[in-house]
Amino acid sequence: MQDFKAAVANCLKSKIEDLSYDEILQLIEIPPNKDMGDYAFPCFKLAKVFRKAPNLIAQDIAESIPAEGDISKVVPMGGYVNFFVNKSQLAKTVINNVLTQKDDYGKSKIGEGKNIIVEFSSPNIAKPFHIGHIRTTVIGNAIYKLYDSQGYNTIRINHLGDYGTQFGKLIVAFKKWGDKETVEKNPIKELLALYIKFHDVAKEQPELEEEARAWFVKLENGDEEAKELWTWFRNESLKEFDKVYKLMDIEFDSFAGESFYTDKMDAVIKELEDKHLLKESRGAKIVDLEEYGMPPALIQKNDGSTLYMTRDLAAAIYRKNTYNFDKCIYVVASQQNLHFQQWFKVIELMGYDWYDKLEHVNFGMVSLEGGTLSTRNGRVVFLEDVLDQAIQKTREIIESKNPDIENIDQTVKDVGVGAVIFQELSNSRIKDYVFTWDKTLSFDGETGPYVQYTHARCCSVLRKAGEEATTDINYDLLSDEDSSEVLKLIGDFNKNILVALRKSEPHIITRFVLDLAQAFNKFYHDNPILVDDAEVRKARLALVEATRQTIKNALALLGMHAPERM
Ligand code: ARG
Repeated sequence: MQDFKAAVANCLKSKIEDLSYDEILQLIEIPPNKDMGDYAFPCFKLAKVFRKAPNLIAQDIAESIPAEGDISKVVPMGGYVNFFVNKSQLAKTVINNVLTQKDDYGKSKIGEGKNIIVEFSSPNIAKPFHIGHIRTTVIGNAIYKLYDSQGYNTIRINHLGDYGTQFGKLIVAFKKWGDKETVEKNPIKELLALYIKFHDVAKEQPELEEEARAWFVKLENGDEEAKELWTWFRNESLKEFDKVYKLMDIEFDSFAGESFYTDKMDAVIKELEDKHLLKESRGAKIVDLEEYGMPPALIQKNDGSTLYMTRDLAAAIYRKNTYNFDKCIYVVASQQNLHFQQWFKVIELMGYDWYDKLEHVNFGMVSLEGGTLSTRNGRVVFLEDVLDQAIQKTREIIESKNPDIENIDQTVKDVGVGAVIFQELSNSRIKDYVFTWDKTLSFDGETGPYVQYTHARCCSVLRKAGEEATTDINYDLLSDEDSSEVLKLIGDFNKNILVALRKSEPHIITRFVLDLAQAFNKFYHDNPILVDDAEVRKARLALVEATRQTIKNALALLGMHAPERM
């Protein structure tokens, strides 16, 4: 519909000298119901300039604009000029765009030459990849796809949590109670069990904490045994994470995690010192942020070890030098809001003018029924288990409905994993939510499988038709209300992508594709497609094809596949 809004703005511009084209575009609204037209222009702002009542201005403007080309009717309504777009012209534009651009429909090149970093997922080594991580993983991947689709050079970074005092604890626990074979059989679950045991035992034997700290300092100082164990924990964990990424079809351009910055932190500490930003506080080094209403940023502990924050500072500077980003996005839970506010401030105080190109894209918390997640207490739901169960349930449903389906393994994976992704992206990201198996495995209503099913339905109609959809059709046959509703939505695809991108809100795309699926299903219910009248059949098939392609492209932005049969 972009083109039509532009056509409306152009007509108005020729009548109104006092507003710029862009100002007019900004003012144009969508009327509250369809009977009032497709666009409305409010005249209230013009009352002063024209020294006339808005409704009289609306009347004058409406009378002076001819109904031609993209516009079929112009009427004054109170203080508004309302426009009705030419529905067969709409059908022609939209269908031509989709059928010629195909998989590229919705894409643009507005981001060309700009580098965007999207940092997401970033699980912690030797800890479970649990449902708490699913949000950053799924939201981050969708944000990557949104930017990528608009031509930005987008770099995906997995800032693995592969460093920190917890590795000291793990080394102690492994040396005391672990054995290699058991760990290799089931790395994350075993390492987690060791970690939990460490905390249990340390309650009675607090000296273990001291031992753990000592091992971490050894690791930082390059001790052979510590490094070897750490490398092994890391490799075993990565293998496990990789299984989940493969299942979800998610890739990264870099796995430079926290440990990558080990040798880059001294320089940051020195720079902070040179810029007179560091203060001593009980043996530790801090940046005082009291003036900005925040607790101090802890840079180095009194035993000389560095912190999560120090590594974030080093990483941001490294990334700026390496990728010269236009934006560096961090998809991280809102529990870490303060952490990001603090170190973004430190970057600003260091005099880097790119501090405002760092963006924390936060999201609400996932909890379990009856309480929060806790790695230490073993209250976790593994992401891999969630995906496996979703796939298993999909298999049962599909096997009972459509047992002869080809390629069933791929289909159940696409639908099962898709269901989990879609449900994650169904709400505004900042909302907290409670994980329940029931909700995640429900395929009714506004779910991923419903949208995928609509796509498969389009494919099935096209297969049965046995003829290619073409643009060589009578577009007047698609000017009815059901068709126009579908086509208007399809025409708004790119606009929705841009809003989702600007707000870092993939749920705008989930909403869009649900609306499209619903509008199409209404069309499908009320309008037989494979009719004898060849002209009508061809026109409707073109609409089916445009819908199929747009659903597929929208799901791809969410990181989902669109199976052709299910
Ligand atoms: N590993 C961290 C966690 O699981 C997330 C890392 C977030 N990214 C960052 N640059 N601090 O909580």
